[in-house]
Amino acid sequence: MAISRNELICDLRNYIQDELKDSAYYEELARIAPTRMAQEILMEFSRDEKKHAESFMDAYCRLTGKKFNPDPVRPSHICDYEQSLKDRIIEETNAYEDYGKMYQELCDPCLRRMFWDARTDEATHAMRIPILLHEMGPDCYQERERYSIAEV
Ligand SMILES: [Fe+2]
Ligand SMILES: [Fe+2]
Repeated sequence: MAISRNELICDLRNYIQDELKDSAYYEELARIAPTRMAQEILMEFSRDEKKHAESFMDAYCRLTGKKFNPDPVRPSHICDYEQSLKDRIIEETNAYEDYGKMYQELCDPCLRRMFWDARTDEATHAMRIPILLHEMGPDCYQERERYSIAEV
């Protein structure tokens, strides 16, 4: 393995915190999503990020023999839904790149598989965000109206 055991443990801690933060963030975005479809996609992203945090926590436990206790996630306040989605494309592609590097650095097949799977999900998220941006457009106006009336 080109990466040391200690580096891997340290990276896993950071990844777990990031994944939990991302999971909570997508849940918040889902709350202000303009359409049902956008809400469902964002909730699926949130579940994926939680699943990544859980598999990284399992790996941390196997490597250290200890359970990792993450810091509580502080809620973030989203002022601009569209800008947040654009920022997420950058974040998702960065995570895709990072996990790809981890995949290349590691020899253990289980760890490699874990990073490969997370990498695939991050790429899927980045590629689906344009659908969410489209859901904000005039084509979806009628559905937005129906949706907000249904919620009253
Ligand atoms: Fe993730
Ligand atoms: Fe993601």
